[in-house]
Amino acid sequence: MGRKFLVGGNWKMNGSLELAKTLVNSLNSQKWNTDLLEVVIAPPFPYLSVVRESLRKDVGVSAQNVYFEKSGAFTGETSTEFLKDLKIEWTLTGHSERREYFHESNEIVAKKTAHALASGIKVILCCGEKLEHRESGQTNDIVFAQLKAVADQVKDWTNVVIAYEPVWAIGTGKVATPEQAQDTHADIRKWLAENVSADVAANTRILYGGSVNGKNSASLAGQADIDGFLVGGASLKEAEFAQIIANANV
Ligand code: 13P
Repeated sequence: MGRKFLVGGNWKMNGSLELAKTLVNSLNSQKWNTDLLEVVIAPPFPYLSVVRESLRKDVGVSAQNVYFEKSGAFTGETSTEFLKDLKIEWTLTGHSERREYFHESNEIVAKKTAHALASGIKVILCCGEKLEHRESGQTNDIVFAQLKAVADQVKDWTNVVIAYEPVWAIGTGKVATPEQAQDTHADIRKWLAENVSADVAANTRILYGGSVNGKNSASLAGQADIDGFLVGGASLKEAEFAQIIANANV
């Protein structure tokens, strides 16, 4: 079985109840081949429940972050148990904004990823280099270190989706070229083959994220190792997100 294309929408800390309803209604009315294309949206925590209840069941709902303990005195944190209670099937881990602004190390991200998977929550694991790393030829060093921390703690990758999101392309309008993205995706797949297994390399979906929009998504989707997108800003615009879904390579 081939890798099912996945379009994810990460709303980040944006939106409102009204916008959530608009975006849900839009997705509820769109048509695509659900055998070939999976859609997952990641609204802010307070809207997870209302989105899950009103959204069609074949679209996944994801948290944007999660904690690595089940319960206890961890003020402000979110447990995987809460997500399961609300029928939220996914979480993101390791988004570059969590790494940068909330000082999440590779080890913390790995711990969160391992805990979420062990709890039965599927994970979109984000990785990616900063501009200075790309310019100094360190892209693979950075990305592979991020992945290795996870591989040290996670043995079963069945429920892991990787999102390669070069930090310099996030929210900047400066999208990676299809060739740049394809090269890094192919390198990640090779790394998985050499460091996890050939099976995991063949079956793990690798999404591209960073300034994806309705215009540039078609050529990115045509690349052999790009198995979908993690979309930020454009996922908050119903027509734009619909266009990205329509451009999926399926
Ligand atoms: P933009 O699509 O706004 O660049 O954000 C990408 C991203 O960070 C998705 O997680």
